[in-house]
Amino acid sequence: MSIIIAIDGHSSCGKSTLAKGLARALHYAYLDTGAMYRAVTLYFLDHQINYHDPAAVEEALKQINIHFERIDGKNHTFLNGQDVEREIREMRVSGHVSPVSAISTVRRAMVAQQKAMGRRRGIVADGRDIGTVVFPDAELKIFLTADVDVRTSRRHLELAAKGIDADWDEIRRNLIERDRIDSSRADSPLRQADDAVVIDNTLLSEEEQLEKALQLAQERLELQVSKQ
Ligand code: DC
Repeated sequence: MSIIIAIDGHSSCGKSTLAKGLARALHYAYLDTGAMYRAVTLYFLDHQINYHDPAAVEEALKQINIHFERIDGKNHTFLNGQDVEREIREMRVSGHVSPVSAISTVRRAMVAQQKAMGRRRGIVADGRDIGTVVFPDAELKIFLTADVDVRTSRRHLELAAKGIDADWDEIRRNLIERDRIDSSRADSPLRQADDAVVIDNTLLSEEEQLEKALQLAQERLELQVSKQ
């Protein structure tokens, strides 16, 4: 018996840390949907695709193939056979990913792949529209949130750990701007699903947050068993 766990929330509030922790503890697959929008954005930038031109976007999407591989226990994103895990996290991509992910043709293509990946359940996915659009029937939906300064510091540390040097104020501005665009776009805006559980992790450690979520997952799994 396996379930789908959907995690949504603002930029850099620890969604991927929680999703990876849950996937590890439950032996589930982890799906990083943000990485897919980042890979599309990287392709557009590297191939000088004018993403305001719908025909150019449609043509480019046909050339894009994204897949994930586990390397040394870590999730790596591949774009047309090339490992782009590091590049897609750079500020160059972060600066364009929100307008790119607001394009309906881009969303349609990514959501179709994401739904296919969840067909066998036993998956933890994080993003902005997972509980509302991609897996509306997920057994557990979590909406994560945290204070913006705490989120900025976490992102700064995360980038530094990857050897990417970014300015704290620039990261903060980018987070606020992405939240604004992601929440106000016409197609699948970031919003809390009606049946989502909200977790504010401003004052929680990674372990405390994981413990809370695992307890919720356990409850949903027991509910599934009792329904059988
Ligand atoms: O989770 P992230 O910061 O890597 O996501 C990058 C961007 O992709 C984010 O600003 C909005 C977009 N995104 C989205 O629109 N829908 C998703 N399911 C995941 C991410």
